[in-house]
Amino acid sequence: MEVVIRPADELAVLAADAVARQLRECDDTVLGLATGSSPLPVYAELVRRHRVEGLSFAGARAFLLDEYVGLPAGHPESYREVIRRELTDLVDIPDHRVHGPDGHGADIATAGVRYDAAIRAAGGVDVQLLGIGTDGHVAFNEPGSSLASRTRVKTLTEQTRQDNARFFDSIDDVPHHVLTQGLGTILEARHLVLLATGEHKADAVAAMVEGPVSAFCPASVLQTHPHVTVLLDDAAASGL
Ligand code: GLP
Repeated sequence: MEVVIRPADELAVLAADAVARQLRECDDTVLGLATGSSPLPVYAELVRRHRVEGLSFAGARAFLLDEYVGLPAGHPESYREVIRRELTDLVDIPDHRVHGPDGHGADIATAGVRYDAAIRAAGGVDVQLLGIGTDGHVAFNEPGSSLASRTRVKTLTEQTRQDNARFFDSIDDVPHHVLTQGLGTILEARHLVLLATGEHKADAVAAMVEGPVSAFCPASVLQTHPHVTVLLDDAAASGL
């Protein structure tokens, strides 16, 4: 695990470098995209590079980490819409090459299996962007998640619903269920790039980097991956 501690504005540039390098090296790059607020500066930097430097996503495919269950298609806070708004509608990746777990289809029970099969059929994820929840969750793998889990339905903890309530009119509007890539699924990506900023992430970051590998802190499983870059500002690194 490579841990890089830099001012917040530099972290987005470093993460964008990893994505841009991969896009330049490989025409049919498979990107793993995260939502939450942590990756937003990375997407802004990638959009800037697309506009100013001509960085192209035309041959790329992208897979989202997770999705709320039960939000209607097109809901502004569905992760599929968030990623369109923040990145994919602003660069040259064709919309049909951007995939997310199907959180509003009729067959939620098998949606995870189908999603993992689609990632595998695409050749696996080359660069996976990640954030971390205040309770150490990755994607929506809450504490207690199997470290070998596959994409499946999960129930959100009250903490995560409260953390994410800022994106909705009220906490009552935050869904209780999600479809999330499993930790085992995420670990199959070839390069994991995790961003965390702010003191509220310090405990989770310390448990991820220095704690035991344990389902109590799902992010700690990243210690077992051969190529992980953890990008932190001083505040997020303050527990190390
Ligand atoms: C959500 C997402 C995670 C994200 C986390 C942290 O729960 N499912 O992928 O890492 O929020 O979000 P933020 O970056 O806004 O702190």
